[in-house]
Parts: sequence; structure tokens; C-alpha cells
Amino acid sequence: MASRVEPGGADHARAMDAQYALQRHVYDLTRKYYLLGRDRLIRELGVPAGGSVLEVGVGTGRNLALVARRYPQARLFGLDISAEMLKSARVNMVRAGVEGRTLLGRADATAFDPQALFGEPGFDRVFVSYSLSMIPDWQAALRQALSVVEPGGSLHIVDFGQQEALPAWFRGGLRAWLAKFHVTPREDLFEEVERVAKAQGAHARCRALYRGYAWEAVIER
Ligand SMILES: C[S@@+](CC[C@H](N)C(=O)[O-])C[C@H]1O[C@@H](n2cnc3c(N)ncnc32)[C@H](O)[C@@H]1O
Repeated sequence: MASRVEPGGADHARAMDAQYALQRHVYDLTRKYYLLGRDRLIRELGVPAGGSVLEVGVGTGRNLALVARRYPQARLFGLDISAEMLKSARVNMVRAGVEGRTLLGRADATAFDPQALFGEPGFDRVFVSYSLSMIPDWQAALRQALSVVEPGGSLHIVDFGQQEALPAWFRGGLRAWLAKFHVTPREDLFEEVERVAKAQGAHARCRALYRGYAWEAVIER
């Protein structure tokens, strides 16, 4: 497995490893009910036959295993800054029987070279699921993710929204709880998505899901 984390990302990598060293063992079970919109994103990826799919912030590989099942001819790639999470991702790819068409790499989402990491210049589909809310320089990660989408391809994002149509007590409680896990819902996610898409000559669509619990964006090249 390739590993490329520049010195600038080392502190964040350590924080993520510390957070996930134990949590990764219960991650899929505990996140099932509150990382909403992930299965919908996978359904809507529309991977072309034999196409390539990269998940940025692949975590335990839960999503990538489902992508593999839904798109049996897809070539799969996943990167994460946490070596601990990547241990789980490797196990899950083997359990799903898709390790032969999967490459995993350790890298910082804000600055990675897909050619050096995976031997690929770009991907037909790139997705980022509940990771931008954990990446300090999430705007750089967004720019970088779009830059590795091949022409005709798309970038898909799902993350916490602003819970704009949910009661204030719920929003306050959720925010306080998420903060304990280094998670900050990005208030200006949609504005930044529009900005980055425009700067790279692409087209963006944004929408709120589940009364703003989650936000979703798609950028097409
Ligand atoms: C909440 S988890 C989401 C995992 C998975 N995408 C999912 O939907 O279940 C966030 C993931 O982002 C990773 N991550 C955080 N900062 C990162 C960075 N700068 N570069 C790459 N991965 C990062 C974490 O290690 C963690 O695996």
C-alpha cells in the first residue's frame, strides 16, 4: 500500500489515528444510523462499466465495499490519512472479495498525487463522504478532489448539513456531540462547491437532505 503524508499533515494524521485506533472496531455499527445519505450517494454514482472510483477519506472501506457490490466492473481506489482506518479498510476489502480490484493508499486529501499514489492520472467518479467536516483545510481537499476527476466524470459529496429545518435543541445537541469527534459541519459548503466548480469550469448541483441533517453536492466536469 502506498503511503504519502507530507510533514505538514503529520499532526492531523496523528490526531486521526488516535481517534480511530479503537473506534474503527465499532465504527460501521455505530455510524450506520447517523451518517445519512451515504447509500443514496452510492446509488447515484452511476459508474460506467470498467470505470474508476476514488473515495477520499475512505475510512473503514464500508462505502467502497458497497460500490464494489453495486458496480461489479468498477476499479476501486481509496485514500485516507489514518493508517488505523486503512487497516480496517484492507480487511473489509478482503471480506468483500474485492481486494483484487482495489488499491488503498495513505495520503492527505488536501495534497495528493494520484499518479504517484495509484498510478492513475484521474478517476471517472470521486466521492467524499463525511470527511470534509473533519479536514481542517477542507477547501483545499475539495479543490484537490475535483482536480482528479476525468473529463466527463463527477465528484460527489455528502456531509453534515446545518440541520436548518430541524429543531434548535436537536441542532445544538448534535453540534456539541460532533465537536467531541473533531467534526465541524461546513456552513459554507455549498458556496465553496459553487466557487470551486466555477474555477475549474465544471457544473455544480447542491441539495439538502433529511431537513438539512445532511447536505449533498455533485460537480460534473
Ligand atoms: C467520519 S470518517 C468517514 C469515513 C467514510 N468516508 C464513511 O463515510 O464512513 C472521516 C475519514 O476521513 C479521514 N480523514 C480526515 N482527515 C483527512 C485528510 N486530511 N486526508 C485524508 N483523510 C482524512 C479520517 O481518517 C476518517 O477515516
